[in-house]
Amino acid sequence: MIVLGIETSCDETAAAVVERRRDGSGRILSDIVLSQVADHAVFGGVVPEIAARAHVEALDGVIAAAMSEAEVSFHRLDGVAATAGPGLIGGVLVGLTTGKAIALAADKPLVAVNHLEGHALTTRLTDNLDFPYLLLLVSGGHSQFVMVERVGGYRRVGTTIDDALGEAFDKAAKLLGLPYPGGPAVEHAARTGDPARVALPRPLIDRPGADFSFSGLKTALRLAAEAAAPLSDNDVADFCASFQAAVIDVVVNRAEHAMEMFAAAHDTPPVLVVAGGVAANEALRAALRRAAGVRGFRLVAPPARLCADNGVMIAWAGAEHLALGESDRLDAPARPRWPLGTGAAA
Ligand code: KG4
Ligand code: ZN
Repeated sequence: MIVLGIETSCDETAAAVVERRRDGSGRILSDIVLSQVADHAVFGGVVPEIAARAHVEALDGVIAAAMSEAEVSFHRLDGVAATAGPGLIGGVLVGLTTGKAIALAADKPLVAVNHLEGHALTTRLTDNLDFPYLLLLVSGGHSQFVMVERVGGYRRVGTTIDDALGEAFDKAAKLLGLPYPGGPAVEHAARTGDPARVALPRPLIDRPGADFSFSGLKTALRLAAEAAAPLSDNDVADFCASFQAAVIDVVVNRAEHAMEMFAAAHDTPPVLVVAGGVAANEALRAALRRAAGVRGFRLVAPPARLCADNGVMIAWAGAEHLALGESDRLDAPARPRWPLGTGAAA
């Protein structure tokens, strides 16, 4: 089964073609990602209206490149998958409408994909993973633990009550004068910094459950930075290292609780998957790998390229639904909010 996937929910214009074989294994035939980072960097964050216009301008070319790299025609496809949410609604509309047009013109089924489901299922393509597994999804818009039990079977066991983790990295970077996107910049600076330099809170640590809260940490960082201003490069490195250490302590503690919940609900060999843009953070991955090992969990993370937003994950999620005989009508709505694993769509 060969599926085209289209992703336009944030600031990457992406399209990819993947193949899913009958045995459930998969192969990436093409993977085109055009980042808009440069368009938004001057504003210190993603500007929705600029993003939507940039998607309009770039998407046709990105899809053409994905098709030609995969060496397939639209008629050779078994389906078209497009992100239908959650995300910035202007961008989602651009990608979903384009996907519908291709599906209609080529007479192929459409799958309106939940972007979070794309992140959730990627490791089934990259690592041939069986259900169930515990997913930690940490990106610019989301921080959550989800028990992934089957295609369409998601149980959320923890989420952030304020900022997403990637958002916290981005805000920390901004207030320390580092460029957007903040995550990679903070990780880079943290390598040469002293993680014990700034005393920062570990919000919610040791509380029951697996929810997150990052806004208090961000405020504490801001107050400490203001008290120490002006900051030298060495100071910035110390602040980044201290911030990252606090984040990692919190995420590891929450993951320990989520792993306990998962182990209580399933008796299969336990696996923790970490995905989303923040999963590219090496220090976080290393800490999670240690914590998983202690509890007998295997840690699986997609390659960094597939942790960030891409078309492959959307094509793959579409293929998983098509393999079950599931597709969507051409009037499928674009959804700015669409939680995974909480039942009703909002
Ligand atoms: O999944 P993603 O590409 O887009 C969303 O769906 O949000 O995630 C982007 C987020 C940004 O907040 C970015 O700062 C963060 O992931 N990020 C990182 C790293 N690389 C990207 N955060 C921490 N460390 C990194 N190395
Ligand atoms: Zn994402």
